[in-house]
Amino acid sequence: MLQEKITQYTEEINAFSTAKAAELEQFRIKFLGTKGIIKDIFDEFKAVSPEEKRTLGKVLNVFKQLAESKYQALKEQSTETSAGKEEGLDLTLPGEGFEIGSRHPLALVRKEIVEIFNKLGFIVAEGPEIEDDWHNFSALNFPEEHPARDMQDTFFIKKGGEKGDIALRTHTSSVQVRMMESGKPPFRAIMPGRVYRNEAISARAHCFFHQVEGLYVDENVSFADLKQTLFYFVQEMYGEGTKVRFRPSYFPFTEPSAEMDISCTICKGAGCQFCKYSGWVEILGCGMVDPNVLENCGIDAKKYSGFAFGMGIERITNLKFEIKDLRLFSENDVRFLKQYKTTLI
Ligand code: DAH
Repeated sequence: MLQEKITQYTEEINAFSTAKAAELEQFRIKFLGTKGIIKDIFDEFKAVSPEEKRTLGKVLNVFKQLAESKYQALKEQSTETSAGKEEGLDLTLPGEGFEIGSRHPLALVRKEIVEIFNKLGFIVAEGPEIEDDWHNFSALNFPEEHPARDMQDTFFIKKGGEKGDIALRTHTSSVQVRMMESGKPPFRAIMPGRVYRNEAISARAHCFFHQVEGLYVDENVSFADLKQTLFYFVQEMYGEGTKVRFRPSYFPFTEPSAEMDISCTICKGAGCQFCKYSGWVEILGCGMVDPNVLENCGIDAKKYSGFAFGMGIERITNLKFEIKDLRLFSENDVRFLKQYKTTLI
């Protein structure tokens, strides 16, 4: 009887394994406790015959040792595993800093541009990145054979839709068209967004980048309004005293057209490697909206006039933070992105 019990409990003890303190405590109470199995067995042992005592005595001692050593071993294991958790915890230590992410430099500059133009009453408008020929080219007065339509510049998606070939927009000027088509003047908006061009990726060119388009259409809008608006923008963005100059240029959708330079933000106009020792850097294209474009969008060009401009956000950021390699903007290297933490929010 007693021998059978011992064999059965031996099996149970051998099979038992846990690192959980509560289960181990139950084990201790069950086998080693003052009212536990070992105590019971020793009590029963007292009643057996003297011959049996001789053989069973040893078995009983081995059994008791087994229960005790099992308990010890498991106990050590369980303190080892909880030690890492409990002993390593020092509640008096200062908390670990909570690292919040930082804004992408392009997002910071985009936000700043939006805020500056908001102050002048420009709202923000957006349009699709997948665009048709009409909105990206034709309505903007691009001649049929214009090189910008070429496969080399444009990522075409589908040939010949209802409004011409479908492509990734090559500039945000397409949003001008959408805005004018779908509303009535006056329009005063800036249109930030991503644009795509089929260019080999290098430090100075990328197959996608970001632009901000600007449009102001109303009665009696003049080139003087354009100049003053952009002058204000530059003072806000790069600080008072930054000079601007306009050079005649050509865009199919503006007449007259100009490119605007600002005095080099790095050498303040004295001449450095960055501005190729000219003291000036180009930041945007602009002009008076061509009457053909107004008419294409259903606006009476005899009554209304307007100006437009377009700038690359990468370029503006480049001048603000002196980031020279365009690839940095899209590589998502945390070491680069982290540096813009201080200008957060
Ligand atoms: N769309 C032109 C480009 O991508 C930029 C531009 C120039 C926009 C003159 C304009 C503008 O609105 O008037 O290079």
